[in-house]
Amino acid sequence: MNYQVVIPAAGSGKRMNAGKNKQFIKLQSIPVIIHTLKVFEQDHLCTGIILVINKDEQQEFESLLNEYQLQKVIALVHGGSERQHSVYNGLQEVTNATIVLVHDGARPFLKIDLIHKLVNAAEAQGAAILAVPVKDTIKRASSDLIVNETVERSGLWAVQTPQAFHVSILKEAHELARQNDYLGTDEASLVERIPKNVTIVEGDYLNIKLTTQDDLLFAEAILQKWTT
Ligand code: C5P
Repeated sequence: MNYQVVIPAAGSGKRMNAGKNKQFIKLQSIPVIIHTLKVFEQDHLCTGIILVINKDEQQEFESLLNEYQLQKVIALVHGGSERQHSVYNGLQEVTNATIVLVHDGARPFLKIDLIHKLVNAAEAQGAAILAVPVKDTIKRASSDLIVNETVERSGLWAVQTPQAFHVSILKEAHELARQNDYLGTDEASLVERIPKNVTIVEGDYLNIKLTTQDDLLFAEAILQKWTT
């Protein structure tokens, strides 16, 4: 089934410490956001991309879209102070779609076959997310770094984007979160509060989010492997 995707790219990327929005960092000479947008440009099920940006960076984004001749960006929307606000603004521009995906601009290594599995699951179940089983042992600790407990690892998943929803469900979840002043770190957490079930589709460990400088090392290695 066809879908539209909201891509939040309006963050300041403080943790990357690059002196600019991490979307503009180049990997093999191409900006991160272009790597991400190209995945959806190439997916025939994607009918429109709503790109959420910082209004001070509008010119830079517009010239990149021109330079790389991207055709599917149907709206450039200004973001908010938190990721959730940025996604909310983007969601207002979704039209003519039953299924909407939300995908971080800073997650460029997404594979199209996983998008399709996710979209099928969302179509059938209403809400679906990509996630991978947690590999590390997880402990909860106090603020003075004394371990309180070891968390049982079975059943723990590290959650990624994209996350896919029936448009009406995601809109309802966002409105409810606004009413209750709830701020979540992903869309699914808002949907869980409706409450509605969210289905996991097993993802790919390479679908990393570029957050800190270390992630750029992995990113270059992934691209190197894919292009040789
Ligand atoms: O900061 P973090 O990497 O978790 O952000 C995930 C995505 O959300 C990034 O692509 C970032 O640009 C975007 N974002 C946004 N608006 C914000 C904060 C983050 O669009 N206020």
